[in-house]
Amino acid sequence: MKKLIIAGGNRLRGEISISGAKNAALPIIASALLADGCSVYSNVPNLRDITTIARLLAEFGAEVSTGNNGEVRVDASNLRAYNAPYELVKTMRASILVLGPLLARMGKARVSLPGGCAIGPRPVDLHLKALSAMGARVALDRGYIVADCRKLKGTKIYFDISTVTGTENVMMAAALAEGTTVLENAAREPEVEELASVLNKMGGRIEGAGTDVITIEGVSALHQVEHTIMPDRIEAGTYMMAAGITRGDICLRNCNPVHCNAVLEKLKEIGLDITAEQTSVRVCWKQPLNGTEVRTLPYPGFPTDLQAQIMALLCLADGTSIIAETVFEDRFMHVGELRRMGARIRLDGSSAFVTGVKKLSGAPVMATDLRASASLVLAGLVAEGTTAISRIYHLERGYESVEEKLKLLGADVRTVSS
Ligand code: EPU
Repeated sequence: MKKLIIAGGNRLRGEISISGAKNAALPIIASALLADGCSVYSNVPNLRDITTIARLLAEFGAEVSTGNNGEVRVDASNLRAYNAPYELVKTMRASILVLGPLLARMGKARVSLPGGCAIGPRPVDLHLKALSAMGARVALDRGYIVADCRKLKGTKIYFDISTVTGTENVMMAAALAEGTTVLENAAREPEVEELASVLNKMGGRIEGAGTDVITIEGVSALHQVEHTIMPDRIEAGTYMMAAGITRGDICLRNCNPVHCNAVLEKLKEIGLDITAEQTSVRVCWKQPLNGTEVRTLPYPGFPTDLQAQIMALLCLADGTSIIAETVFEDRFMHVGELRRMGARIRLDGSSAFVTGVKKLSGAPVMATDLRASASLVLAGLVAEGTTAISRIYHLERGYESVEEKLKLLGADVRTVSS
């Protein structure tokens, strides 16, 4: 098993380029299932989750190949199967994103039900309720979602909770449904908006993505598309925290500061110097940081996917910070590991009270999920001594070339196999 070894203490300085967004690429690649012909995507990050969705699509008979510069080609002209097996789905919950496209294109889908995960129970009931409302017959059979329909029918769907992949799944299904589907309380994340724009390039008729009401007029067929994946706002946010925690000065190229607004405002508030231009952000440490209050919320609020990372940063800020996690209430697996490095964090329900300490110390720690592992990397970068992070396959699910990028910025990191 691989471990990431970090000798803490180096101030990170320099410039890196932000990769394509994992959470945009996953639904977009799944949407290739909706069309005949070969779709070509570029700026796709080279990550384990992308390999997983590619393997899933190949299970259904799609031809998937990868080229240079993050190019992924998917030809779904000849689909012949509709079974998403447990072995693949258990490694990535986002596999549920194939359910809507399979139903819309083939009229059938058998998708392993994703179980719980380290960040909470994460049910998919809202996906299933919406697809049922569109006329699909949905049943659970020995751990699998089994769904079929003759033709999905447009209808009005109100999501009780704003759900990102739920909105994406239903939007993809509705793109080929008969009639008009209206999604209310839809997720407003930029990744949802990007998927809608890809579906429109494929011949879809979708309006309102990026707001909480999305209207989808079904069309009879969609065609292949070429598309460049948008920058990853969570990767960008993570490196911004790296600048803050190491008292560094990092310039992020190829990012979209507008998507990072809530994060940039919070970082300014705690005392970091931020210069945002159209496609770049520079984050520079100039003074000791102040504690603050953070509440995770659906977009445009502060993202839950950066909660663990800002917690690492606030471990070294002045005073006591309060972090309220409102999206995934149990998403605190990193707290125990940060404490092992000397952090002072008290949990009370879905809130964490973080009292700033003067220093963290290196320790062997274990990654439990993707973003939790990023928070341990951040803590390791500033900790006194050496931090050895095990189970870094979690990190590799979501951060492209993380070791190279950190080294470019001057960090002392290396991977070892044990
Ligand atoms: N929820 C339900 N029922 C459902 C669906 C969601 O109760 O049917 C609840 C969830 O349990 C959660 C809330 O609704 O409390 C929001 O969950 P959402 O469905 O929006 O999460 P997701 O679509 O499964 C995506 C990202 C996550 C990110 C969340 C929240 C992808 C592939 N995944 O997950 O990303 O944390 O939205 O922004 O887009 C990550 O990248 O590390 C990651 C976990």
